[in-house]
Amino acid sequence: MPLVSTRQLLDEAAKGGYGVGAFNVNDMEQIQAIMEAAKETNSPVIIQASRGARAYAQDLYLYHLMLAAAELYPQIPLAMHLDHGNSYETCVSAIELGFTSVMMDGSLKPDGKTPATFEENVEVTKKVVDYAHPRGIAVEGEIGVLGGVEDGHGAGGSGLDHVTDPDQAVEFAERTGVDSLAIAIGTSHGAYKFTKKPDGSVLKMDLLIKIHNRLPKTHLVMHGSSSVPQDLQDIVNQYGGKLKQTWGVPVEEIQLGIKNGVRKVNVDTDSRLAITGAIRKVFAETPEKFDPRDYLKPARAAMQKVVALRMTQFGQAGHAGDYKAISIADMAKGYKDGTLSTKPEVSK
Ligand code: G3H
Ligand code: 13P
Ligand code: ZN
Repeated sequence: MPLVSTRQLLDEAAKGGYGVGAFNVNDMEQIQAIMEAAKETNSPVIIQASRGARAYAQDLYLYHLMLAAAELYPQIPLAMHLDHGNSYETCVSAIELGFTSVMMDGSLKPDGKTPATFEENVEVTKKVVDYAHPRGIAVEGEIGVLGGVEDGHGAGGSGLDHVTDPDQAVEFAERTGVDSLAIAIGTSHGAYKFTKKPDGSVLKMDLLIKIHNRLPKTHLVMHGSSSVPQDLQDIVNQYGGKLKQTWGVPVEEIQLGIKNGVRKVNVDTDSRLAITGAIRKVFAETPEKFDPRDYLKPARAAMQKVVALRMTQFGQAGHAGDYKAISIADMAKGYKDGTLSTKPEVSK
């Protein structure tokens, strides 16, 4: 199957009432791990690359690895998504390269650190939508700001500093025409999300439900959705790592989100932990080894395991064969003729 639009994957997920994991990658092994997990669980999948990933791997390597994945797994609907685009130019360069969807994260200024104003966010996101839709490319916007910092991107602080205001979410969706909307409900990027198992006081599921009630047809996106499982923390620390005790987002909360309009679930940290634990184990147990395949193979397998588990938990497992790819050219026609309308349905 050719690379498909995230919009198609999310529309199908809404019909089927499930969520789709969007997994971050930086290299070939991570793409292989995700594709094997998708094959194992028969899942449609979104693979996403951040600005940091694009700089690390170089755009062309990433793009051709993604084309190889699409060619090698023709049965898997696969979207290539830009994660946290920081400016119009970043989004345009991703679209020119061949990404099938982009996130314009206008919740922060282009420095990726300073919270932007609502008007700045609307303006830059709308500009990206106006560029992307005629080309058949889907756009994710963000309203509210997540906590934490990844690779220099993020406002820092707690996930509760800038949670999404439901009225602003409605106005943002109406004025920008985004295909999906990332909201801030108390999560943050990275491993250090919560200092105790999160309950209703730190993860605002009530707010998510409120936003979903106001925008019942809008595809919501949950960033910072790694669960940071205890067993993966333990493996890293057992073999010489020094992670401080931490808690991520419980899978049950993500599943509650999926029942309430969450269609895209962003996961990076869990993959990083799985890879690091597996590599540390090989180094600790067999320090005489020096062939990278000796530690990259178990690392890839460990990431595949956690990704396959998430695909099953998010409900996308079993849905790869439900539909045929809509070409990007036909997506462009759909935006033009209104069949892919992005005018949100709004409830009081
Ligand atoms: O949102 C952040 C993702 O985990 C990507 O992280 O910017 O370090 O590649 P990165
Ligand atoms: P985690 O750090 O929780 O994996 O979140 C990743 C993410 O939101 C990427 O956009
Ligand atoms: Zn994110």
